[in-house]
Amino acid sequence: MTIDTSRRQFIRDVALGTVAVGGGLGLAGCGGGDEGPAEAGAGIEFKHGVASGDPLSDRVILWTRATPSADATLQLSWELASDPQFANIVKSGSVSTSAARDYTAQVDVTGLAANTVYHYRFSIGSKRSATGRTKTLPVGAVSQVRLAVFSCSNYPAGYFNVYAEAAKRNDVDAALHLGDYIYEYDSTGYATGDAAALQRVPDPANETLTLADYRRRYAQYRTDADLQALHAAMPMIAVWDDHEVANDTWTGGAENHDPATEGSFAARRAAAIQAYLEWIPLRQPDASKPDQIYRSFDFGTLLSLHMLDTRQVGRDQQLSYANYITASGFDAKGFTDAVGNPARQLMGTTQTAWLQSKLQASTATWQVLGQQVLMARMNVPAPIVTQQISVAAYGAIATKAATAPATLTPTEQAILAQPAIPYNLDAWDGYAAARETVLATARTLDKNLISLAGDTHNAWASDLKDLSGNRIGVEFATSSVTSPGFETIFTAEEPTAFAAALTQLIDPLQYAQTSLRGYMVLNLTASEARADWVFVDTILKREYTASTGRSLRTLPGAANRKLVEV
Ligand SMILES: [Fe+2]
Repeated sequence: MTIDTSRRQFIRDVALGTVAVGGGLGLAGCGGGDEGPAEAGAGIEFKHGVASGDPLSDRVILWTRATPSADATLQLSWELASDPQFANIVKSGSVSTSAARDYTAQVDVTGLAANTVYHYRFSIGSKRSATGRTKTLPVGAVSQVRLAVFSCSNYPAGYFNVYAEAAKRNDVDAALHLGDYIYEYDSTGYATGDAAALQRVPDPANETLTLADYRRRYAQYRTDADLQALHAAMPMIAVWDDHEVANDTWTGGAENHDPATEGSFAARRAAAIQAYLEWIPLRQPDASKPDQIYRSFDFGTLLSLHMLDTRQVGRDQQLSYANYITASGFDAKGFTDAVGNPARQLMGTTQTAWLQSKLQASTATWQVLGQQVLMARMNVPAPIVTQQISVAAYGAIATKAATAPATLTPTEQAILAQPAIPYNLDAWDGYAAARETVLATARTLDKNLISLAGDTHNAWASDLKDLSGNRIGVEFATSSVTSPGFETIFTAEEPTAFAAALTQLIDPLQYAQTSLRGYMVLNLTASEARADWVFVDTILKREYTASTGRSLRTLPGAANRKLVEV
């Protein structure tokens, strides 16, 4: 078949990017003919890999980004197959994208079989994306579910060896990302000390403020081969934390946002959320409410996973100890009243009511909260929180108090007399009444509750108890992918001794690892929920060694709401 000269010229112009085209000029072509898929895809690259997300039992979101050489509306084709060679294509279609959504494309492919592995890819003309592997959720009785849990992936801080390690696995049902998928800082900001040497200087070089900034930041992260490999290997279920907007975000602002110099926080937040929804494969519960991403996933009768937003949609401003230091010392009553104020919100009343209804409706064995900040109580003696004394020195005094109390000096007695206070007011510890509401719901409904948390850059496991001391469930908290942990804050502490001392000092805390980067694998069966913490020995070299640092589990049933050894 021949095509006329003007048509050929038009296609050539499109290929060269000299004209913008409307929808329809993709693989699907301009009304048929063999005029050349090659021309249609010319100048277009798939630089940012593929991803899938938010699997349900019959559907999953597929994602890619096409980079055109000039402004255009692109019509991408997609294929989903039961085999990696694409011999048996199960579903196919097309999706358009344009500058309006930063050339990212998402398809929610429906009508799929439950608990099934699929392979997918995108194309335009002769250009084809990488191939991704994904999996739908199971229904009915399920023998086992395995989730890989990540948080705090800070590009300039180091190589994403943690992602690379997890991407090798084919025994994981889904990845969970608990937030801080990107960081907003400029090229000299937080955790950028090794960035130049690692060739991981943040782009753009400025702190992200505008939609264009956030889009560029996501684009940089998604050029990372290890992150691309993770996305290509398994579906991801993601929620944001604070750094997807700015450090220590709450509904009305953020620690790292100054309206005087950085303008409207609401505008920044809207830009950050738009870029997130463009770049993360996520099924919005309500497209008219872009800041509402809390949502649930059912893995048959084994597990209901409730992905929460403790950060952007309903959080009141964080308390600050500085506001409770008076001329006569720490105003403990004032602080206690404020932190226990029943009106104080972390999720907001709408999300809290939604979670309560989800917990009530689910009959699954396990109720898992995929959320950002530590829920377990982490009260630490005030002299340590305020860094008046090292953990080791405090431990020595505590040992003396236990073995030879008569020898305590007045200074040592004064140190021991100080109260234990939350070490992190940005976590659920700063929102005690809101935490009690969630714990009381789980207790009243007699649910097997597991909280998954990120945010701290350290690995933790704690018993979840309410303020009356009732055992409610457990918390498994993952270390970071790259962001620095306590080893950069408590530099004088030897990590193993430090972790041991913390578990001694903090009653609900059973495990701490504060110096290694990693991810967490949650293995759920009808008889137990086990967390395995996997760590890498370095993020400053491409070559690394991975190992499982610890495993802990919990058992179902009201008598078993605690951590137990494997
Ligand atoms: Fe973080």
